[in-house]
Amino acid sequence: MKSLNADQLAQILEVNASRMVEAREMLNEKDREIGDGDHGTTIARGFASVKEALAGQTFQRFQDVFKTTGMALMRSMGGASGVLYGTLFMAGSKEKTDRFDARALSHWLELGIEDIEQRGGAKTGDKTMLDALAPASARVRQMTDSDDIGNVLTACADGAREGVEATRSMIARKGRAHTLGEQSLGHEDPGACSVMLILQNLAQACRALETN
Ligand SMILES: Nc1ncnc2c1ncn2[C@@H]1O[C@H](COP(=O)(O)OP(=O)(O)OP(=O)(O)O)[C@@H](O)[C@H]1O
Ligand SMILES: [Mg+2]
Repeated sequence: MKSLNADQLAQILEVNASRMVEAREMLNEKDREIGDGDHGTTIARGFASVKEALAGQTFQRFQDVFKTTGMALMRSMGGASGVLYGTLFMAGSKEKTDRFDARALSHWLELGIEDIEQRGGAKTGDKTMLDALAPASARVRQMTDSDDIGNVLTACADGAREGVEATRSMIARKGRAHTLGEQSLGHEDPGACSVMLILQNLAQACRALETN
């Protein structure tokens, strides 16, 4: 499958939303190491709202699926992370193409990174969600001519996983964890973990679509 239409994108985002609700405890556990232990609760609240917003709707344009997702996250998560995760998905609504293919995926991630940097003032290496997004985006950038969106999403998720592992040797410079300084070393960033899970879920759900 080379690309996804709006309804297919909505389907894989709905699958992801259910999985992110289930990831609540795991992400709280991560956030207990270097944060206040509520990242999973915030993410689960956000994606429960995404599930509701997407359920039973049909979409003409895949951009509208991203917009609905981003707005639901912003509204329901609240706080700084609501803005950051909302911004990530809103970036996908700015695409110009008709179908969601490798090139659109690449644009989405690049724009998402840019917008998150602008909103939150963090850079790669500051031990944030950006450290999962940047290597994910770098993988996709090398595959924009691919005619297999499932493959590209899988490579994207692999990049994010490597990014999460790399956050262990970073000192947090943004968000709540920055107050820990060097004590944040040796722990994965919870936001990078949730971004990795999202990309893994999208890759798996896309594969499942292909085999059905
Ligand atoms: N300025 C920023 N830019 C990019 N990402 C950020 C920034 N601040 C925080 N993050 C990401 O958001 C995640 C959650 O941040 P933080 O723990 O500060 O939020 P919180 O206010 O406790 O909210 P949450 O309820 O999500 O835990 C971090 O793990 C990090 O990946
Ligand atoms: Mg927190």
